[in-house]
Amino acid sequence: MKRITFCVLFFCAISISGFSQGKEIIKVETNDLIMIFSASKNENVIFEYWGDKLNDASVFVSKGFRSQPDSNKDSSPQIFPAYGGKLYLNPALRLTYHDGVLTTELEYVGMDKKTLDENRIETVIRLKDKIYPVFVDVHFVAYQKENIICQSVTVINDGKKNVSVENVASSYIPLHAQSYYLTHFHGTWAAEMQLKEEKLTPGVKIIESKKGVRTTQSESPSFLLSLNGPAQENSGEIYAGSLAWSGNFALSFEFDERGMLNILGGMNPFASTYHLLPKQKLQTPEMVLTYSSNGKGQITRNYHDWSRKYALQHGDKIRPIILNSWEGAYFNFDEKTLTDMMDNAAKFGIEMFVLDDGWFGNKYPRNGDNAGLGDWQVNAKKLPHGINYLADYAVAKGLKFGIWIEPEMVNPESDLAKKHPEWVVKSGARDILPMRNQWLLDLSNPLVQDFVFNTFDQVVSMSHNISYIKWDANRHVDNVGSDYLSKENQTHFWYDYVKGLYSVYDRIRAKYPDIEIQLCSSGGGRLDFGALKYHDEFWASDNTSPLNRIFIQYGSNTFFPAIATAAHVSTSPNHQTGQMLPLKFRFDVAMTGRLGMELQPKDIIGDDYEFAKNAIKDYKLIRPIVQFGDLYRLISPYDENGWSSLMYVSKDKKQAAFFAFSLKYHDRTTFFENKLNGLDPTKNYKVTEINIKSGHHSFSNNEKVYNGDYLMKVGLGMNIGNPFDSSVLLIEQQ
Ligand code: DGJ
Repeated sequence: MKRITFCVLFFCAISISGFSQGKEIIKVETNDLIMIFSASKNENVIFEYWGDKLNDASVFVSKGFRSQPDSNKDSSPQIFPAYGGKLYLNPALRLTYHDGVLTTELEYVGMDKKTLDENRIETVIRLKDKIYPVFVDVHFVAYQKENIICQSVTVINDGKKNVSVENVASSYIPLHAQSYYLTHFHGTWAAEMQLKEEKLTPGVKIIESKKGVRTTQSESPSFLLSLNGPAQENSGEIYAGSLAWSGNFALSFEFDERGMLNILGGMNPFASTYHLLPKQKLQTPEMVLTYSSNGKGQITRNYHDWSRKYALQHGDKIRPIILNSWEGAYFNFDEKTLTDMMDNAAKFGIEMFVLDDGWFGNKYPRNGDNAGLGDWQVNAKKLPHGINYLADYAVAKGLKFGIWIEPEMVNPESDLAKKHPEWVVKSGARDILPMRNQWLLDLSNPLVQDFVFNTFDQVVSMSHNISYIKWDANRHVDNVGSDYLSKENQTHFWYDYVKGLYSVYDRIRAKYPDIEIQLCSSGGGRLDFGALKYHDEFWASDNTSPLNRIFIQYGSNTFFPAIATAAHVSTSPNHQTGQMLPLKFRFDVAMTGRLGMELQPKDIIGDDYEFAKNAIKDYKLIRPIVQFGDLYRLISPYDENGWSSLMYVSKDKKQAAFFAFSLKYHDRTTFFENKLNGLDPTKNYKVTEINIKSGHHSFSNNEKVYNGDYLMKVGLGMNIGNPFDSSVLLIEQQ
């Protein structure tokens, strides 16, 4: 950890936002939103307000009603409540001092505001313990146009003795309403990001992960919190947060005795005490916050705009259509299998071929998931001409070429495991428990970081025609422990692993700014803004069944944009679920994200062949709208009426792509109708059905022109009543 080079005096040069009733008023603002804090020297900083901008925030005065009758306690919420004083809530900060003192009392020191560029303003509010030389900096970066505020915290040990950080959150949000509805996203392998909304009752609800890796497989660090009723699409007050951290996390929603909801989000304090030596500091990940008084649709659009610009690589570049080899070939291929796949892919108009797992390992060949991880040399038996030959072949066919790696992992059956047993995560002398027949490498160790970086470097160097890497991670942490960390610092593992991973990502991006990288961890096991910012896209799930994907993508796309959502058409019956679903339905669902295929293209024949070829052509037509447009969800698959629909609208509102799906059999007399959203009410639009299979139209007024106002108030009808009917419309301004 680096020495602190900051200057305390810096914060004494206070940049004042305003004063009210003798208090300094500090504002953190975007174009439409504002957080307001009030501060007095040597006192707590009060969290006054977070929401839509006020007409005149210069006259802000405290609400002034909060008293606690029998405790002499001012119940005004603090900006960052530490354990100590009269705090009975779960604290945002808990420290233990060298002398055994367990409590902290923070007071205001000063603040600083900096314009980082034309869109970002940074505010740092500095707090200090009343007695001990420990500073707590609460950072905000406000993204003006996207209405996003990223909050993080730095704990600085400015003394001469150690301090132990038992718990430090990234953000604390106090809310007061009549009722609170939490939307969180849970699941498991092949069923990630399943939406669950519940009304909170008094007590504490915690959403967390202790898996270390694959932390978003069963819970997500992204949430919505709706006030006074369930979250609506286009109305109602909603707060949202998404923790940019690829390690253990905890979100706590404490409904307290005052009727307030206290939201804490950050790294999971579980077995994670961090010892700060004199002059050391600990920086939390960022919590990415936003708010809307117009429902969750706006929340989603804020996150998408922000992530395309700040939390995704190449967010302004169209993504290629990919054929991935996994479900088409698994581990069973030779050169001809792959070149045949490329030949066929090219005929369909696919733009990239990705060679998945199974291409490496010689002494311990990777012919299954039981051997070879760690030995990143091309398997000479399967691929005698090497990767360069395949990459050149792809390019000659007009395809880009990508390749799969899983560099954080090692099979016990590998040269690497035999050579470096000390690099494996383990708990002293206990058995190392395999998961998918593999062990985890200890990224808290700088030598392991070098190995992972070098693996990437060497793989990419196998051919100058490699332009895409799929980075996988197929297990989580159990029997935690590190041979590298000292026995006193074993609890640093969780933090140091993620920091080690990020430092490898940083090195990779410094050397390879242009390469596309997919974020994959057994599907969507690592779907967070901390990792995503180094990647171009994510693999939302190993479940490629469109019926399940509708739900998985609905959850993922609440926060993460379509441009980054790898969605592949696979074969029927589906390999994960056995479902047999029409090719059109499979395509239409995949076309709501970054379209790809994951099957043997030679198996698509006859009518299906023509349809698939055209579908790819149609996707190219709507791709800029899907990948750069605004998402408007129309009917949620969770509404249980058996339909689901959504649309993307280009930023200039000149074009839109509409998708509707039937998820079950609807009685013969019921019919589908839908009001559109996001269009310009004053403009006329031509509505054309695309992606038509065997001449069968679902929309009878094809190519008719409608007024935008009509489309949004009256809507359109489609004949999609049977199970797995679907419809795609291109809507173009005239
Ligand atoms: C898990 C990934 O999610 C799959 O797409 C595939 O890459 C396999 N790993 C390969 O082992």
